[in-house]
Amino acid sequence: MATAQAQPNIALIKYWGKRDIRRNLPAVGSLSLTLDALWTRMEVKFSADMGEDHLRIDGESAGDMLPRISRCLDKVVGSERPRAAVESNCNFPIAAGLASSAAAFSALVVAANRACIDAPELFEASVIDAVTSRNTIDSARLAGAASGSAARSLYAGIVGLSVGENEIDVATLLPPEDWRLRVVVAVTERGQKPMASGDAMILSEKTSPFYSSWVVNQEQDLDVARCAVSARDFEKLAAVAEHNCLKMHSVMWTSRPPVVYWNKGTLACMQAIRELQADGEPVFFTMDAGPQVKAICLPDNEARVTRILRDIEAVETVMRSGLGSGAKILDDA
Ligand code: PMV
Repeated sequence: MATAQAQPNIALIKYWGKRDIRRNLPAVGSLSLTLDALWTRMEVKFSADMGEDHLRIDGESAGDMLPRISRCLDKVVGSERPRAAVESNCNFPIAAGLASSAAAFSALVVAANRACIDAPELFEASVIDAVTSRNTIDSARLAGAASGSAARSLYAGIVGLSVGENEIDVATLLPPEDWRLRVVVAVTERGQKPMASGDAMILSEKTSPFYSSWVVNQEQDLDVARCAVSARDFEKLAAVAEHNCLKMHSVMWTSRPPVVYWNKGTLACMQAIRELQADGEPVFFTMDAGPQVKAICLPDNEARVTRILRDIEAVETVMRSGLGSGAKILDDA
């Protein structure tokens, strides 16, 4: 049995679209922040005595999510594997645009690697060899095959993902201690999102007239963002991240039928952040496949950003985080 913890990551330059659906290869590179205060823990236990896989999320049996988990385990330790009992616990709302699948699948791969190595009697020697020789990028590619954004949660701090002909590459661009960015998450709704991001991306590619220019322009945004990160240039990062986020949502809105994740709280938060910017505060917003707004700021203005977002009527709760480590084994679990 092994337990791993991973934190969600928030993309500043977004992944939206698939180059290869079967391999879940992204159409575009991305750049993200791995958080520290939000986490998912995954416990994996392989057993020769079980006839099927089991999944519990926060103590409840979760059959609907099980097929994705089983497919991911098949890739990690082979489809001839013993069945697994998987327990997931999470300290934030899942499937609501807070990158819960990123945290879940990166933790799952790391926990399954270790659970396999710790129970060699249950696996073929060739599987043990393959798992033992696996490094972080191999695990990131396995996590990315399950959920594109999950590949980034294997890495700490500010993370870049690039897409080659056949596979992705992922690396930390800046460790957490090198730039103390803060993320204030305004939760405007706890319910599940209306459409899974994977399905929505495929719909966007098929139907949005903006999709092709989104893909073509992504490399330019990534270049600007990478330069901003290496120069710790907050203003430059803010401008390109907001622009990239609004472009992704424009692709969603112009899909047919439209993919709309925002609610009135999302718009109220964006408006409040724009007013803070007009007042000279270093802060910017980003939103993913859900109505929550993530405000990125610096330690000195975190208190004001938090207060302003918390006071918005449609905001249910506010969570705060710095940047944290990549997925890891919890040894004392
Ligand atoms: O990894 P997925 O399939 O959940 O897609 C994530 C897509 C966004 O969160 C909207 C953007 C991103 O880069 O994380």
